[in-house]
Amino acid sequence: MDKIDIRTRLKELAGRVDVALGDCCDRYLNGPERLVGAMRYSLEAGGKRIRPVLVMLSSEVCGGRMEEAMVPAAAIEMIHTFSLIHDDLPAMDNDDFRRGRPTSHKVYGEAMAILTGDALLAFAFELIGRHYEGTAEQKGRLMAELAEATGAGGMTGGQVLDMEFGDATRGLVEAQEVHRLKTAALIRCACRLGGICAGSEEEALGAVSEYGMKLGLAFQVVDDYLDQTSSQAEMGKGVGKDAAMGKPNYAVLTSPDEAWARASELICEAKNAIGRFGAKGEALMELAETVLRRKS
Ligand code: IPE
Ligand code: IPE
Ligand code: MG
Ligand code: MG
Ligand code: MG
Repeated sequence: MDKIDIRTRLKELAGRVDVALGDCCDRYLNGPERLVGAMRYSLEAGGKRIRPVLVMLSSEVCGGRMEEAMVPAAAIEMIHTFSLIHDDLPAMDNDDFRRGRPTSHKVYGEAMAILTGDALLAFAFELIGRHYEGTAEQKGRLMAELAEATGAGGMTGGQVLDMEFGDATRGLVEAQEVHRLKTAALIRCACRLGGICAGSEEEALGAVSEYGMKLGLAFQVVDDYLDQTSSQAEMGKGVGKDAAMGKPNYAVLTSPDEAWARASELICEAKNAIGRFGAKGEALMELAETVLRRKS
């Protein structure tokens, strides 16, 4: 398949994720109308859907069937969306714009935005617990790994370090540790969930994990680069505040050029990690390229 075809395929997969998310909400989401409305508001705003697409492609590269990975794919996007709603709160990054729309707290108020995040987090685990159709062992492993990547040793812990950054030390090493936790942990987890759905052996799982970690680190460096060089219109979210807020932004701590060079290096490492899959890994290879060249 050439690059154009693979890109079309990546878009198609993101479209399938949109359908699956809508379907999960239609079939399984119950609760007060305003809460359900707020959950759908943030989910339906779009987004690149990179984490669920990674679940699907990692399952495929490990020899599984993509349809069997759809529930964990939807679940990780619920978790990611919850993390964005909370990240934008006045107590955190205080952002007014996300995915091309006013942020959750701007539309629904702060209390509802907090509760919307809580409900999305719980819904993710409900989906896997009730609707994932693999073995009990796979289900347990999916839930444990997703919880680990979301919690204190993963995204949530990273968000704490992100807030504390600069109080004691503020160097590149510390910044990369924040990136590893707040962003790369969940992206790596997406790849592992796919491998687990496929019933993958440890070696293949290790390869997609390593790919996910490097891709996740690159993803945040590119986010930092775009915060410095892009616009709200292009990104669909506020930009240019990281420096003033003392955030661990790689492009602020070095320069936009150095950040881009670091991201390219990490993308090379990500691609090397999945060399063992040969042509089967070409969609993951191309996805890594799109992370580097993304404009939003
Ligand atoms: C934004 O994630 C938060 C970061 C980890 C940098 P995405 O850039 O994946 O956001 P969406 O899902 O496309 O909106
Ligand atoms: C995002 O980091 C980390 C999350 C876990 C949401 P940022 O704060 O840089 O993400 P954006 O730029 O607001 O999307
Ligand atoms: Mg933040
Ligand atoms: Mg933010
Ligand atoms: Mg950012």
